[in-house]
Amino acid sequence: MKISDSLASFARLDLVGAATPVQKLDRLSRLLGRDIYIKRDDITPLAFGGNKLRKLEFLAAEALRQGADTLVTAGAIQSNHVRQTAAVAARLGLRCRALLENPTGTTDPDYLHGGNRQLLDLFEAQAEQVANLDNADAQLEALAQRLRGEGHKPYVIPIGGSNPLGALGYVRAGLELAQQTEAMGLTFSAVVLASGSAGTHGGLALALAHAMPGTPIVGVTVSRSVAAQAPKVKGLIEGTAALLGVEVPAALDVALWDEYFAPRYGEPNPAGLTAIRLLAATEGVLLDPVYTGKAMAGLLDGVARRRFAGDGPLLFLHTGGAPALFAYRKAMDAGSSNAN
Ligand SMILES: Cc1ncc(COP(=O)(O)O)c(C=O)c1O
Repeated sequence: MKISDSLASFARLDLVGAATPVQKLDRLSRLLGRDIYIKRDDITPLAFGGNKLRKLEFLAAEALRQGADTLVTAGAIQSNHVRQTAAVAARLGLRCRALLENPTGTTDPDYLHGGNRQLLDLFEAQAEQVANLDNADAQLEALAQRLRGEGHKPYVIPIGGSNPLGALGYVRAGLELAQQTEAMGLTFSAVVLASGSAGTHGGLALALAHAMPGTPIVGVTVSRSVAAQAPKVKGLIEGTAALLGVEVPAALDVALWDEYFAPRYGEPNPAGLTAIRLLAATEGVLLDPVYTGKAMAGLLDGVARRRFAGDGPLLFLHTGGAPALFAYRKAMDAGSSNAN
């Protein structure tokens, strides 16, 4: 079966609307001596945007189908995923309950209360802080059991919305990108994105292997080594293909770069902060310190070190995250030439 036909058979809420723009970054391209394009999933139309809305189109449709009254999920205190899930719950008239962890142990009040965390309160999501999310699926199920005991109907969404159903959002995004690429007459040498809980990477890689075969997808890891991330991405590709009833093309290669996330998830690094400043100052585009700044640092270094094959244009998938800039104000200030 064709991947697009199979995808069309799944229930989906239309939350994203029109295709997100693919834009050329003219000034950055001139600076680097290489054409760089960006797909603007940072401006999906709900609550400061981001990639999770695409996954939630499918996950929330399933929650409604099951008659749920509460979306239950988990993430870091500054999770963009939890923020977007809470916004979708508000939009649909559902409750939202979230388990939040503090991945770096910071006591910075901007991190603990600002940015994405501040927005959860506006959406009237109920958040509970936990020591860690080392057994997130079991912790979410325990919370769901508690809610059932109180007479609610919870629907559990895993960390990052990354299960095969959520990854369908990025299968759809990949097919959308293939259409846009063809209409613009472009052939990308590579597509670059941040790879975290891996649903974005897995869904996109599966779709592009069908619709833009031969295009390398480079996932810049934000929390794990290549050895730890590769099975997550591959597992999601296989699970998503099985859900759709389509083949995983034999040529699909999972490319991961893990040199850009140190010192660890959720902690900014100098190259990421430099990338954030560069994109803001040359293009007016806002990246974030946890995901897209580090992914863009990978793209910039990849261009400088000729890590990409060929010399054709590159596409950066901008997955959002800018609300975290406010939570990481001190890190941003510390590395700024304008700090005083
Ligand atoms: C801004 C941003 N970019 C990228 C990602 C990574 O997406 P995934 O978790 O699907 O790998 C996330 C996930 O939370 C995110 O918030």
